[in-house]
Amino acid sequence: MADQYAPSLDAGETLSRQDLSALQLERLRSSIAHAYANSKHYREAFDATGVKPEDLSSLRDLAKFPFTTKQDLRDNYPFGFFAVPREKVVRVHASSGTTGKPTVVGYTKKDIETWSSVVARSIRAAGGRPGMKVHVAYGYGLFTGGLGAHYGAEALGCTVIPMSGGQTEKQVQLIQDFEPEIIMVTPSYMLAILDEFRRQGLDPRRSSLKIGIFGAEPWTEPMRREIEEAFAIDAVDIYGLSEVMGPGVANECVETKDGLTIWEDHFYPEIVNPETGEPLPDGELGELVFTSLTKEAMPIIRYRTRDLTRLLPGTARTMRRMERISGRTDDMMIIRGVNVFPTQIEEQILKESALSPHYILEITRPGRMDDLKVIVEQRDGASAEEIAAASKGLKHHIKTMIGISTAIDVVPPNSVERSLGKAKRIRDLRKG
Ligand code: DLL
Repeated sequence: MADQYAPSLDAGETLSRQDLSALQLERLRSSIAHAYANSKHYREAFDATGVKPEDLSSLRDLAKFPFTTKQDLRDNYPFGFFAVPREKVVRVHASSGTTGKPTVVGYTKKDIETWSSVVARSIRAAGGRPGMKVHVAYGYGLFTGGLGAHYGAEALGCTVIPMSGGQTEKQVQLIQDFEPEIIMVTPSYMLAILDEFRRQGLDPRRSSLKIGIFGAEPWTEPMRREIEEAFAIDAVDIYGLSEVMGPGVANECVETKDGLTIWEDHFYPEIVNPETGEPLPDGELGELVFTSLTKEAMPIIRYRTRDLTRLLPGTARTMRRMERISGRTDDMMIIRGVNVFPTQIEEQILKESALSPHYILEITRPGRMDDLKVIVEQRDGASAEEIAAASKGLKHHIKTMIGISTAIDVVPPNSVERSLGKAKRIRDLRKG
């Protein structure tokens, strides 16, 4: 049988590993030279380290160059990171961040085209095809999700429904009336849309949706099954961050669903030890670092994403994959000496059929030590016995799989606040 996916791949996607490496080196050289020549930050940072663009003669040499952090972007607020005259910047986006000034990113016309092409590629990898209708429920505005998805879907030749986030009742109405095949939204907000389908007495499995492209926050394999089952769709993972571009840095291929293919012809990945910054070999878990290979307005060299994952060999494409993000270093909780990520708890919650995927993790410090409470909603219709058993089961799974003792609070349906975009999983009640 002819491969139903192959015919539509673009030229960059079908490069051999050897040609890809050659292209990466050529692009890396020009990206580093561009950053050094046109960005005050990079000129100073390279000079301070004593490294010159000419020192890059192989991909490995990238490790000689200094990292870029979110703080570097903040220090150059608002437009100091641009490497082109401001007049050439056709768009800015910004990420809010929890403290301090937002980080601002800029795009030239060509950057917007590049971005659109990688998002188009991502939607295609998810099974999307020209002519399909795409319901975009990522937020529009300074967040890159809405507009990034929008331009990519248009570039692929889809009909875009720019719904943005929120107005959940209307989301469902438009899905019912416009019959999109694809939805692009955070996985947590997809669950709120699911609630609303049920509230309206509609069967989500009978909607027009066939594909969901979910990202912008960590989620898990059990969550994928939950959503796929509820809507009878394929659920695939999309990754990106504003500092590197926005959504579409990496995307899962629907035919394998085995982690996200990194669009390596535009974004060069490394994994480093989060404490020491030492590069780690493929296969090892560490912090993901990206260098842009084709960006004009804001080349970014060795950006520390704070996302934890590992690099894996290509399967559906020659380009390498990354495992789904297990968490951000920022979201790591240390409970009595044990490092814990919300995704680990999510995996355990979804083992219990009486518990729903709506949860929040509350950290307190009653004495010298931190305590973790898992507040999780029961599923509709679960009996008191089932809930008691589930609560006991969850406590036990967390103890044996993760190694920490937790308090479990099973709450009624609809009592955990729903997210309209990125879910906030941790409620930190520690003082100071
Ligand atoms: O969240 C871009 C995006 C929009 C990606 C829509 C996918 C879909 P930022 O707001 O800058 O950009 O946040 C970037 O979100 O460093 C990760 O911690 C997290 N993140 C993004 N995608 C995923 C994912 C957008 N698929 C930060 N899995 C990143 C886990 C993700 N975390």
